[in-house]
Amino acid sequence: MSEKKLRVGILGGTGMVGQRFISLLENHPWFEVTTIAASPRSAGKTYEEAVGGRWKMTTPMPEAVKNIVVMNVNEVEKVAAEVDFVFSAVDMTKEEIKKIEEDYAKTETPVVSNNSAHRWTPDVPMMVPEINPEHAEVIEAQKKRLGTTRGFVAVKPNCSIQSYAPVLTAWKEFEPYEVVATTYQAISGAGKTFKDWPEMEGNIIPYIGGEEEKSEKEPLRIWGEVKDGQIVPATSPVITCQCIRVPVLNGHTAAVFVKFKKNPTKEQLIEKLTSFSGVPQELKLPSAPTQFIQYLEEDNRPQIAMDVDFEKGMGISVGRLREDTVYDWKFVGLSHNTVRGAAGGAVLCAELLKAKGYINAK
Ligand SMILES: NC(=O)c1ccc[n+]([C@@H]2O[C@H](COP(=O)([O-])OP(=O)(O)OC[C@H]3O[C@@H](n4cnc5c(N)ncnc54)[C@H](OP(=O)(O)O)[C@@H]3O)[C@@H](O)[C@H]2O)c1
Repeated sequence: MSEKKLRVGILGGTGMVGQRFISLLENHPWFEVTTIAASPRSAGKTYEEAVGGRWKMTTPMPEAVKNIVVMNVNEVEKVAAEVDFVFSAVDMTKEEIKKIEEDYAKTETPVVSNNSAHRWTPDVPMMVPEINPEHAEVIEAQKKRLGTTRGFVAVKPNCSIQSYAPVLTAWKEFEPYEVVATTYQAISGAGKTFKDWPEMEGNIIPYIGGEEEKSEKEPLRIWGEVKDGQIVPATSPVITCQCIRVPVLNGHTAAVFVKFKKNPTKEQLIEKLTSFSGVPQELKLPSAPTQFIQYLEEDNRPQIAMDVDFEKGMGISVGRLREDTVYDWKFVGLSHNTVRGAAGGAVLCAELLKAKGYINAK
């Protein structure tokens, strides 16, 4: 693509997810981070000063952003005037996030959000681009509601579902109807490292606030249909989930049991996983994994240490598929929670929205 890169703002750019956006967008072929906004505490400082010792990425802070002067996220018109669209990773109350994201949209600035605030707003698409790219159609209805011509909000789903929702989607034609999942979730999902959460070393915490409900319900919205300008969630399969915090830095693992109406063979299930590909692969979007889902035959895979970075953290690894005595089949899935599950998933959404003409230069 030889045209000029789109100017991108990161709302909450000094935080953990914001830093991940900044790292992932370094050298992006279509997008260039030109603006960073955060709380009034950081506003007016250079990005390097504002982040200080809080840089949590394993790669160094990109030179190109170090001297960007951080803006105040609440000065919506001012920030919006500098950018073609924004990624949102601010941490505020749900109501505040809902409002500020719509305020940006109303300045004709598309918002691609990592936050959960708008995940159940009926005319906001919540997308995994390989699964439900057609949900972008509701943006037209949303624009009518907001009174905008190019401003809208789009979101990505919770990090916990990415280790099993893509798998169940690949198996849709066998009609999974009952799913039991347990997720083993990394501490980076709480914005933490071991340095700032030493109590997690050698520990397990059997509670992650709000996570079980998201893990059970969000897949149904992703499998829903667009009807009369809204997303109507699917009603099947029913999912019940337990979410456990484990002493892992990056990578959410899920152990899952499934019942099918049309019980498939193991070969059929594996074939559906490895051949599953979607619009991002077809369009060769810059962040799309070539192989969305890999199946690992070894009994001790997928492992965080070996598999979390599969396809640069954008692919899903599956293994241990075997017949079950109570359910039909069981398996283990793994995905990178801060790449596919957070900033990487949002960047892929923005690439899809650009390719489909929803995001362009102002
Ligand atoms: N961490 C994850 O893996 C993950 C996954 C999914 C969703 N999320 C969600 O993503 C959001 C960001 O998470 P995070 O872990 O990156 O949080 P974080 O590290 O605490 O960063 C929060 C960001 O929001 C800004 N901020 C905080 N309070 C603000 C205020 N009152 N007004 C304006 N800006 C404010 C901070 O600016 P300052 O630096 O100036 O304080 C910072 O840029 C949260 O809503 C979180 O629930 C996180």
